[in-house]
Amino acid sequence: YGDPNQKIDYVFKVVLIGDSAVGKSQILARFARNEFSLDSKATIGVEFQTRTLVIEHKSVKAQIWDTAGQERYRAVTSAYYRGAVGAMLVYDISKRQTFDHIPRWLEELRGHADKNIVIILIGNKSDLENQRAVSTVDAKEFAQKEGLFFLETSALEATNVEAAFLTVLNEIF
Ligand code: GTP
Ligand code: MG
Repeated sequence: YGDPNQKIDYVFKVVLIGDSAVGKSQILARFARNEFSLDSKATIGVEFQTRTLVIEHKSVKAQIWDTAGQERYRAVTSAYYRGAVGAMLVYDISKRQTFDHIPRWLEELRGHADKNIVIILIGNKSDLENQRAVSTVDAKEFAQKEGLFFLETSALEATNVEAAFLTVLNEIF
């Protein structure tokens, strides 16, 4: 996942947001290190990881920020969003409530981030198809109405995680 001595042409900050336990940290672990853990601990404060990719012959360092979904563990909101050029708004397809909260996250995002920020809505845990509580059509419709990209992912099975990041990074680029 990248040569550490590589020269960097661009650094893009992307933030992950969404309710606790939707899988934000595991999406990041999958993208940054190709790892996944079933006993992931709730995030406290802010963490970030980077991965350098090549887009159109330029090296792009993706700096992905991850914070707690739980209010009491969250970082200072304005600092978290400062300088972000991309955002991944995550819910869990097996937990309806996490989708119902998306408009609130979107409101916070739009209140704090740059108006040109690229946003993707992500329905994570697509491997839990037999526990699905949010239909793909509903989510797609919501995303379209709000002008967001949309994908369903599974950090566990590594489905669409790469595609989700590439969608955002290519659009920023
Ligand atoms: P906070 O840090 O509290 O905001 O939570 P989070 O959104 O970072 O969730 P986290 O990544 O810690 O994952 C929560 C739980 O969901 C863990 O047990 C993960 O292993 C599990 N999980 C994450 N992604 C997936 C997935 O794609 N499929 C399944 N089945 N479980 C997942
Ligand atoms: Mg976390």
